[in-house]
Amino acid sequence: MRTTVGIIGAGPAGLLLARLLHNAGIESVVLESRDRAYVEQRQRAGILEQGTVDVLRAAGAAERMDREGLRHDGIELRFAGKRHRVDFPALTGGRSVMVYAQTEVCKDLIALQLKQGGPLLFEAEALAVEDAESARPRVRFTYEGREDVLECDYVVGCDGFWGVARKAVPAELSRVFERTYPFGWLGILADVPPSHDELVYARHDRGFALLSMRSPAVSRLYLQVPQGTDAQAWSDEEIWDELERRFATDDDWRLRRGPITSKSVTPMRSYVHEPMRHGRVFLAGDAAHIVPPTGAKGLNLAVGDVVTFARALAYEKETGSSELLDAYSETCLRRVWQAERFSYDMTTLLHRDPDATPFEDRIQLARLERVATTRAAETDLAEGYTGFPLE
Ligand code: FAD
Ligand code: DHB
Repeated sequence: MRTTVGIIGAGPAGLLLARLLHNAGIESVVLESRDRAYVEQRQRAGILEQGTVDVLRAAGAAERMDREGLRHDGIELRFAGKRHRVDFPALTGGRSVMVYAQTEVCKDLIALQLKQGGPLLFEAEALAVEDAESARPRVRFTYEGREDVLECDYVVGCDGFWGVARKAVPAELSRVFERTYPFGWLGILADVPPSHDELVYARHDRGFALLSMRSPAVSRLYLQVPQGTDAQAWSDEEIWDELERRFATDDDWRLRRGPITSKSVTPMRSYVHEPMRHGRVFLAGDAAHIVPPTGAKGLNLAVGDVVTFARALAYEKETGSSELLDAYSETCLRRVWQAERFSYDMTTLLHRDPDATPFEDRIQLARLERVATTRAAETDLAEGYTGFPLE
């Protein structure tokens, strides 16, 4: 098989890239190791930055999002029993975010790709990327029980943290920057209307909690738990009791309970692989970087990478200049590091580090007080949350 751009992975990065290339008249083939139902149901991110919303609209992939997505103009920070609302449009010159789940973004992009895009092969597992430095990089993969080769002009590894594309960068050229956290998130979906009309980020002595939603009828909630926690070790009642404790306020706010339909634990990690390009192989999304989920940057960063790649390739096609492709890694990494910083700040602002000293606990509360009482600090948070602009 032969194509212009071989895309490994049909998560949000790979699917959106295929769509952007299709719109620019550039051929691609997407290889995805899992089946369609798995990709469409994998519970992950829930918040789209303004820039991501704009990109999906411009790509013609926003029809259902504009009908069903929930525009949010702020979040609530909750600490020491108090509530503080951060008003995004007022602080950022009109920016907001959209609550629209990653599962739904993927469903919409898959439907479009199958209707009018190039090949999207499910249960096609990439084994290795070869000849990255040549003019014809290749992806070896298995499909329908046979091994095959996809010959490309470019390969984009959108295959997530556990993918194979990153291995195409020789070890002596790779640099990895990493931090792990001694906690994870226990996430639940529950068939109950959200207890608040905006997201609530709560800092509590017992640990962080987050109230989010998937629709006006479905709540998504998270609890900070120790690293390595088994989700099934928590009964439904224990989860609701703990959420109630961590969200408790001095006023009459109440947490609504309902049937829990899914429970899982997400580990927390910061990770950046540099460079994001080697020869004609490019890395995008989680294949190149991971952020801890606090602040919902993962999916939005993946979108930024593939927009940067698609623009650079279209520019080369139009002008014959590889200038933008050559700058891909540096361009993406500037934004990636801003998101890494923001996600790290949000994580350390709101989570209870089991090793924190009483001094550090007080500093954490002082940081929160600063956001709640100083327009400059609050603006910094609002700008980071609604998203860093694409260059
Ligand atoms: P992925 O979505 O990981 O997609 C990669 C795709 O490549 C997958 O479909 C995979 O099956 C496929 N693949 C892998 N290897 C191969 C191979 N060898 N051959 C072919 N295909 C392959 N972000 C938030 O903002 N908020 C959250 O709440 C949140 N929760 C998360 C929970 C979990 C458990 C995880 C893992 C991530 C979470 N994230 C969250 C991060 C966010 O979901 C990711 O940043 C986003 O999915 C990145 O998209 P991607 O397309 O780069 O990678
Ligand atoms: C969600 C996830 C996040 O990481 C976040 O900061 C906000 C919302 C969510 O899954 O809804």
